[in-house]
Amino acid sequence: MLLGLFILMFISTALLILESLWLILPAYAANSFAVIAGGGTPVDFGKKFYDEKRIFGDGKTWRGLILGIAFGTIIGLLQTYSSEIIEFPSFGFFPSFFVVLFCLTFGALFGDLCKSFVKRRLNIKRGGKLPVLDQLDFVIGAFLFLIIFSPVWFLQTFTIYHIIIILVATPLLHRVMNIVGYRIGKKKVPW
Ligand code: CTP
Ligand code: MG
Repeated sequence: MLLGLFILMFISTALLILESLWLILPAYAANSFAVIAGGGTPVDFGKKFYDEKRIFGDGKTWRGLILGIAFGTIIGLLQTYSSEIIEFPSFGFFPSFFVVLFCLTFGALFGDLCKSFVKRRLNIKRGGKLPVLDQLDFVIGAFLFLIIFSPVWFLQTFTIYHIIIILVATPLLHRVMNIVGYRIGKKKVPW
């Protein structure tokens, strides 16, 4: 009896974690693909801000931004079409799922850009550490965009549990992914 209850709790927690990762996956995909596909012309075109420091720095490129958004959106579309089959939450119907996916992908990379902007203002060089923001920049960006541009879907789909799980799991996953990125030579530093 007690064991049955325990197993039930375990399964529902595991499902909640999977569901949370599923919902944030397009943001993860955009952020990771920006690292894999990035390079070339920087978003700030090499320009400096009023403080004579770079606006974003060489770590934020157009290729990373555009291909990150494209890849994250493709992943999100694949998820949308498979969500019915595996009975997982979807990103909505056509065409509104494009707004949701725009928030998840562009919002994520916008958060990443904002973080780099803050780092440059704090005199932190490209690749230098900024704890918490380095790990949560893209999740915060995605949430912010969802609240602003897709509040109905966001409130209907996300529970406080999903949000807490994402905020806790992301720094852990981020750490793992960055070590992988560093090993394959896509990141200069393992964070
Ligand atoms: N990247 C990119 N374009 C983006 C985001 C990331 O080209 N819009 C690539 C860059 O090659 C970057 C790498 O992904 O160096 C890692 O991303 P990130 O850790 O966010 O950048 P950092 O190099 O650490 O720079 P910053 O200090 O500005 O965070
Ligand atoms: Mg970095």
